[in-house]
Amino acid sequence: MIKKIDHLGIAVKSIDEARRFYEEVLGLPCEGIEEVRSQKVRTAFFSVGEVHIELLEPTADDSPVAKFLEKNGEGIHHIAYRTDDVESQLARAREGGCRLVHETPIQGAGGKRVAFLHPKSTFGVLTEFCEPQ
Ligand code: CO
Repeated sequence: MIKKIDHLGIAVKSIDEARRFYEEVLGLPCEGIEEVRSQKVRTAFFSVGEVHIELLEPTADDSPVAKFLEKNGEGIHHIAYRTDDVESQLARAREGGCRLVHETPIQGAGGKRVAFLHPKSTFGVLTEFCEPQ
């Protein structure tokens, strides 16, 4: 079951540059920076009440986020829904005819189990399910 919006993912070229906007202009504290090898990105998380902002910076040219930046430039990359069961959420999406980016959950930032649905089958929004540890 989907519980809430967990975070919004925003693709940026440089976390070091982008974080100043979130910290100094918006006044949001950075909760931590972490490299997520499975997705070839560096992430920075900020809290906005119970929702988070996840900045994503590619760490390799073949990173999915590098490809996104090439095609779309910086901006909103994905929306992440928190669920208590990624597998059953994926099964439900599969039954609903959605194209899955991940057939089974992968390890995301903060050790969460995550999986993505392809934007071609979600009306243009890369959609993440994430399940806290
Ligand atoms: Co995310």
